[in-house]
Amino acid sequence: MQNKEVQALWPELEWIQDIELRKKVEVTWVLALERSVLEPEDLRRIPFTLLAGPDLKVSFMAHKRAVVHIARESGLKFREFFGDELPVNMDVLIAGAILADVGKLLEYELDDNGNSFQGKYGEYLRHPFSGVSLAEQCGVPAEVCHIIAAHAAEGDLVKRSTEAYIVHHADFMAFLPFKKK
Ligand SMILES: [Fe+2]
Repeated sequence: MQNKEVQALWPELEWIQDIELRKKVEVTWVLALERSVLEPEDLRRIPFTLLAGPDLKVSFMAHKRAVVHIARESGLKFREFFGDELPVNMDVLIAGAILADVGKLLEYELDDNGNSFQGKYGEYLRHPFSGVSLAEQCGVPAEVCHIIAAHAAEGDLVKRSTEAYIVHHADFMAFLPFKKK
């Protein structure tokens, strides 16, 4: 897996100002793709959730990138209206949003028809856990791993940082309306 393939998947990496952090985020995605049965093209094709029925057209990448954009815009509004009362570290926020679902690359498998499903590994270790594991192997700092760990329902038991709250809500507001009852 090449870094430039990850850069093509994620133009939003450029938003991370801290070059070291940006590299660590990029390398985490490289590592995940190396260990995954999924290729970058699969990420542009497979639906972003398995819980919205078979007709969902929104791809994995479309959803993940939308969440990063929503999170960034939200962080900017927090800064504009709340200032020092509720500081938001934009690098941490964007890095966490880009990495929130990186563990899904280990959670998913493909059947013979190219449809994605949750494999055994993913049943044991959902993507908040596998995502933290991948990110820590790449030197991603704790405040960013916290966002990965706490972005989904598992994080309801955790005291989320401001950045983790933003990513959690960005993710769920772009997911729940799609979810089939
Ligand atoms: Fe997730």
